[in-house]
Amino acid sequence: MREVAVVSAGMTPFGELWRHSLRDLFVDASLEALRHARADTVDAVYVGNMSGGQFVGQEHLGPLLADHLGIRGVPITRVESACASGGVALRSAFLDVASGMSDLVLAVGVEKMNDGGDVTNVLATAADQENEVYHGITFPGLYAMIARAHMAQHGTTLEDLAAVSVKNHRHGALNPRAQYRQEVTLEQVMASSLVADPLRLLHCSPVSDGAAAVLLCPLERAQEFTDRPVEIRASGLATSSMALAERRDPAFLDAVSLSANRAYHMAGLGPADIDVAEVHDCFSIAEICVLEALCFTEQGRGGEAARTGETALGGRLPVNPSGGLKSKGHPVGATGIAQVIEIFEQLRGEAGERQVQDAAVGLTQNMGGSGGSSVVHIFERV
Ligand code: COA
Repeated sequence: MREVAVVSAGMTPFGELWRHSLRDLFVDASLEALRHARADTVDAVYVGNMSGGQFVGQEHLGPLLADHLGIRGVPITRVESACASGGVALRSAFLDVASGMSDLVLAVGVEKMNDGGDVTNVLATAADQENEVYHGITFPGLYAMIARAHMAQHGTTLEDLAAVSVKNHRHGALNPRAQYRQEVTLEQVMASSLVADPLRLLHCSPVSDGAAAVLLCPLERAQEFTDRPVEIRASGLATSSMALAERRDPAFLDAVSLSANRAYHMAGLGPADIDVAEVHDCFSIAEICVLEALCFTEQGRGGEAARTGETALGGRLPVNPSGGLKSKGHPVGATGIAQVIEIFEQLRGEAGERQVQDAAVGLTQNMGGSGGSSVVHIFERV
């Protein structure tokens, strides 16, 4: 396998982007990535998109997006793994370059969630229809059950859950591309309207539009496109049962653990080597469970991490310096690539007020559904 680098990035702001269609978002993010690298075409594109068909009635994205980007004829593959679609698109692009099949490859994530469709029901198509959705469950409901299990087993408190949102909004307030740039207090989170007990509005990631793109090439060619490449050291993908009830322990995200162990093994690195991480906080409880499955904290102690400041900027291991899904926004197919962009900028020292000092190794973790799929990547400053 060849060594692979990320050499440039482009991203739209995340939010309710009424003036931009799905194709506009894709083109804006992709053109920015190409412009930074002074490239006018690529060998291949992988586009992460969860549900163009249900959100905006548009399937068959490959030819449409190639055409609108002005690269008609270039192979584009759409990649779908629910909210992990972006992360799996990056993995596909990485494998394409690593294998020697292609040299210059774009990995893009895009989603347009605000234009129509019943968002809650569209998102629920990423859960087990026969065993979960048929009985009326939604994603906030599934994560509420995970939260209840974690609270019962480990004594995690409502304050612990709220502390994750407070931290991520504090980080997101420093991010010009974030959807919700205001700080929130513990009291505001705990008094926000109830969505699915114990999860409240301010525990939930929002409904978002947006796109993000990164350009990959063999590490040995990276200097043609940038003087500060970031190497992709490892990629780990794993699955678990879709239905929460089929898992041995609903409070333990086994697909996250498996995908992380694969990535740690491939990189020859462990959790202690990571300087900064972007993880999938679609609901506050998700960040707590993910920290444990990544072995950033002991099992059952994820709840303390945000409350004690360990995972805040300036703490032992800053998690979600971008503001995470909670504050930056969660246009589902774009999220995995946006996480990569935050780590790319952190490792290049370009994160401005959010910069983690001396960050050399970063990790992204992107999750599908309630943990049915997870993809982890590890990056290193070259
Ligand atoms: N965080 C912070 N503020 C939010 C928010 C969020 N997640 N969602 C909405 N808001 C704000 C809105 O801006 C609006 O503010 P305003 O009154 O000042 O304009 C207010 O809260 C109400 O917004 P509204 O759009 O009516 O909220 P809603 O009740 O329709 O939706 C949720 C709120 C939490 C139900 C919705 O964001 C949601 O479903 N989130 C989860 C998405 C999801 O499941 N993703 C996949 C994860 S696996």
